[in-house]
Amino acid sequence: METVLVTGAGGYIGSVLIPKLLNKGYKVKAVDRYFFGKDKLKKHENLQIIKEDTRKMPEGIFKDVDYVIDLVAISNDPSGELFNEATWQINYESRVRTANLSKKYEVKRYILPSSCSIYGFQENIVDETSKTNPLTTYAKANEKAEQSVLPLANDNFVVTVIRQATVFGYSPRMRFDLAINGMTYGAWKTGKLPLMRDGTQYRPMVHVQDTTDVMILLLSADINKVNGEIFNVGGNNLNYQIGKLGEIVAKTVEEETGKKVEIEWYGDPDRRSYKVSFDKIRKILGWEPKWDAKMGVKEIVNKLETGELEKTTETITLNWYKELERWYNIIKELEMYGGILNIKWEI
Ligand SMILES: NC(=O)c1ccc[n+]([C@@H]2O[C@H](COP(=O)([O-])OP(=O)(O)OC[C@H]3O[C@@H](n4cnc5c(N)ncnc54)[C@H](O)[C@@H]3O)[C@@H](O)[C@H]2O)c1
Repeated sequence: METVLVTGAGGYIGSVLIPKLLNKGYKVKAVDRYFFGKDKLKKHENLQIIKEDTRKMPEGIFKDVDYVIDLVAISNDPSGELFNEATWQINYESRVRTANLSKKYEVKRYILPSSCSIYGFQENIVDETSKTNPLTTYAKANEKAEQSVLPLANDNFVVTVIRQATVFGYSPRMRFDLAINGMTYGAWKTGKLPLMRDGTQYRPMVHVQDTTDVMILLLSADINKVNGEIFNVGGNNLNYQIGKLGEIVAKTVEEETGKKVEIEWYGDPDRRSYKVSFDKIRKILGWEPKWDAKMGVKEIVNKLETGELEKTTETITLNWYKELERWYNIIKELEMYGGILNIKWEI
């Protein structure tokens, strides 16, 4: 049996990826601080949960590992700005360390899940050869990580970078801070869908089931096609204009709930746009996404309707990290003798 080490395993993408890897017959070492809870991963005989910080991962974890999928990150722009130093450490330095340790321990393949956000806003359609334009700490850290891990590739160590479009869809660690997911929740909850003017901006999207399929595909894809390569992950038909996307979300929520949804425009026109080519992954790996926005919206609405899915603080990444830091400071201040009300005490 082959073993896959996944970092950030308890996150939005990880908690969809892990059950798929287990179903495919891989053993999984799931490394995460589990900031969003361990309950997102179901127990399985081939799943080893490892509560660890990737900055401090002991080398022993890499023994007998065949593949590494390095999902760990402070995973969006606002969190990257607020927790700037941690973002550089986790998204860049820890991933470079993990890639180097993977090579040292003869891991066969290392996959870096990066982001299309490193293209920033650009006039023309961008592909993997285009000049990047990372605008935020999050995007810059991804770019630095890519630049440091790709040169590690050799005949015995396969390195592949995937630049994911903005992900959408249901995950046990739900994120409503992602565009389609957030719009869907707003439309479902309030019947109003706020959209930033003027709606002509393009943004590429990909469903969480599709991007995790690509990660699995890369574990067995022809080495000559993937080693040292970068692939944009998404679909040309999933480069959505925000206005059109809003209409799809509104219409789908109406169809699913029978309630009216109104689009409310706000702000000055924001024409910052980026449109990405996904030709390479289709031509080289023969892969195309199966999901589109409408299917993803339906999926989320159905889970909201049945009560399987709720919007909690944990589903907004930035707010959850802020809460954790706030409570950490409160507890540090109040704790005495190993507790708050219950303390270590023997008469
Ligand atoms: N979701 C998207 O739209 C999207 C798009 C492009 C790229 N990505 C990339 O995919 C990866 C996964 O994203 P996600 O949406 O699942 O994010 P997420 O925030 O849901 O998951 C990240 C996980 O990493 C863990 N973590 C954070 N710091 C850690 C540390 N120091 N040590 C151990 N664990 C730590 C968290 O507990 C969390 O479970 C990230 O690298 C992200 O940048 C995501």
